[in-house]
Amino acid sequence: MAQKILDLYPKLTYLSEDKLDLSNFTAVAIPVLQGEQIEIPKTKFLTAVSNFTKLDLNIELNNWPEFAAKPGEIIEVPISVGSLTRIYLVGIGDKSNDDLRKASTSLGRKIKGTNCVLLSALETEKAKIITQGVAFILSNYQYSLKSDQKVQKPTFVIYGDYKDEVEYAEILASSVWQARNLIHTPSNIKNPEWLAKQATAMVSAAKNSDLSITVKSGRALKEFGGLLAVGNSSPNPGPRLIEISYAPKGSSNWPHIVLVGKGITFDTGGISLKRPYDTMIGMKSDMAGAAAVLCATVAMSKVKPKVKVTALLMAAENALSGTSQRPSDVIKHFGGTTVEVLNTDAEGRLVLADGLAYADSELEPDYLVDVATLTGAATLGLGRQYAAMYTRNKGVAKKLYEVGSKVGEKVWHMPLVDDYSVALDSDVADFNHLADKFGFSAGSVTAALFLEKFVGDRNWVHLDIAGTGRSEVDAGENIKGGTGFGVRLLIEWLGSF
Ligand code: BES
Ligand code: MN
Ligand code: ZN
Repeated sequence: MAQKILDLYPKLTYLSEDKLDLSNFTAVAIPVLQGEQIEIPKTKFLTAVSNFTKLDLNIELNNWPEFAAKPGEIIEVPISVGSLTRIYLVGIGDKSNDDLRKASTSLGRKIKGTNCVLLSALETEKAKIITQGVAFILSNYQYSLKSDQKVQKPTFVIYGDYKDEVEYAEILASSVWQARNLIHTPSNIKNPEWLAKQATAMVSAAKNSDLSITVKSGRALKEFGGLLAVGNSSPNPGPRLIEISYAPKGSSNWPHIVLVGKGITFDTGGISLKRPYDTMIGMKSDMAGAAAVLCATVAMSKVKPKVKVTALLMAAENALSGTSQRPSDVIKHFGGTTVEVLNTDAEGRLVLADGLAYADSELEPDYLVDVATLTGAATLGLGRQYAAMYTRNKGVAKKLYEVGSKVGEKVWHMPLVDDYSVALDSDVADFNHLADKFGFSAGSVTAALFLEKFVGDRNWVHLDIAGTGRSEVDAGENIKGGTGFGVRLLIEWLGSF
């Protein structure tokens, strides 16, 4: 089934101050600061709006004594002057980046699914213009395969000369949008072969010779015992290793970053079937890590940083079938390490182990980063706002923490507790992969310790995005389902080299 998804990607642009003509808009947004006195900052823009509408907006504000200008709190002033129908007085809290993101998503949601042309004067600081633009677009995300679709999308115009900021916001937001489309696609449409086709189409659409892609399947995967053991449970079309690289001319001595993404196109749990069965419904998002590394890597052709990037998408379906692997099977990973499989629902680490070992032995990465919806335990520990980050490298941990806070994809540095490593012991193989021997709990930590066995001496970072990769609510920047977490974090981090 070919998918024709509803395209509600809004338009984002900017308007130089000297070109201001309020008769071109259906709505304007004006910021209100939280503080001892709630007030509308006096600007030339405010004067222009007052002159155009003959309204004193501070008097309007006084009509709403409960309004506290909390980030995202909005007063909607209806009006009819020419085409202008709304003035939004938008609480921007203390003007922090996080508050501005909340305010912008709240405003974006007000006009979601309309043809509104909004002129926004919420912010003037360049870095925050980017935050605002991304929030406007992402708050409008929708995924629908309804047969009857109405396509109405707003236009966001940011007031001021912000060409570069709008361009960069567009790169971030469109990449997250693409990742979300992949994640939201139901698993009767998406399988490993489909994912490979999507990745190929994205690389060719970029029309940039710095990007290339190869797809391994069948015999070419014979050394990838983890990918095969999981993916052969669904032999049609079987697993894929999708390798996308960004390698501009002259890049041979630049830092090389290899990104490995968990690409389980559906996770039933396999023979160790997920229970209660409802917990399976969200498992079309189990390829969110692969989607994130794919979309961030393709975006490199626009950001053009001085790095080489290789993305490895470990794509497989974890199905329940006559060819599913069994609890107690012993498999051999890329590079020869043997692993005793004790629970077929811990499949993510099996496909990642092959990717990490392959990267270590064949690709000479300066940094090796994996992104995976790996454990429910990560969600238990940190909830849905922070991804669990594991690394021995304090410098890169600090950097990713800072970058994540800036772009709104936060990560928290978790400990690799060496005392728990004995949980990986096995009587018959080099390791067992379940890592629940001796009852240490800490399922996200022990999963990370398992992965670390495959990274050699590399600078390795593991991001467990099981909590952040999926939203359970339709609110803020997200709708229920895949969030695209990791895309902005990776683009911003890779762009900082
Ligand atoms: N894909 C799941 C992890 C997951 C759970 C992601 C919930 C998002 C939401 C993963 O493959 C899994 O099943 N993990 C198991 C591991 C366990 C069997 C050691 C888990 O977390 O329960
Ligand atoms: Mn699983
Ligand atoms: Zn999984």
